[in-house]
Amino acid sequence: MLESFPAGGLAVVVGATGGVGGALLAHLAGERSFRGVVGLSRGGVPPLDLTSEETIARAAAHVAGTGHELRLVVDATGFLHGAAGSGPRGAGTSSTPRTWRGPSPSTPPARRS
Ligand SMILES: NC(=O)c1ccc[n+]([C@@H]2O[C@H](COP(=O)([O-])OP(=O)(O)OC[C@H]3O[C@@H](n4cnc5c(N)ncnc54)[C@H](OP(=O)(O)O)[C@@H]3O)[C@@H](O)[C@H]2O)c1
Repeated sequence: MLESFPAGGLAVVVGATGGVGGALLAHLAGERSFRGVVGLSRGGVPPLDLTSEETIARAAAHVAGTGHELRLVVDATGFLHGAAGSGPRGAGTSSTPRTWRGPSPSTPPARRS
């Protein structure tokens, strides 16, 4: 059990259909620390593409609609450390770094340590 989180609330895994994200989703779903776990990705429902603010807004609304307090967001896409520091693994070919912005101030992205 994740003892640093008080029981309840919601965990969100972005990149949940991937190898790392799928494993995290399965682990968190088996935890008693969270009332619910939401997995998101471009191919999921609702679709979330971290390069599209529109899909981020829709996903944020979906998460808010669960009625659970958001307690944990994990980005398992590799989006924050692509080859150019700007995209998912294998897609970070842009020479122009982008700036990360979360879906809203109330749901900031998880920070990597
Ligand atoms: N696998 C390992 O053993 C391992 C070890 C150490 C570190 N890592 C790192 O962990 C990260 C994830 O690795 P992985 O092997 O799990 O990768 P993966 O299997 O390719 O999974 C990537 C996930 O991210 C989603 N995704 C990709 N681009 C996205 C976007 N723009 N918006 C939203 N979702 C997006 C994908 O789903 P959709 O295509 O549906 O969007 C998928 O769910 C990478 O940075 C990798 O370098 C992996």
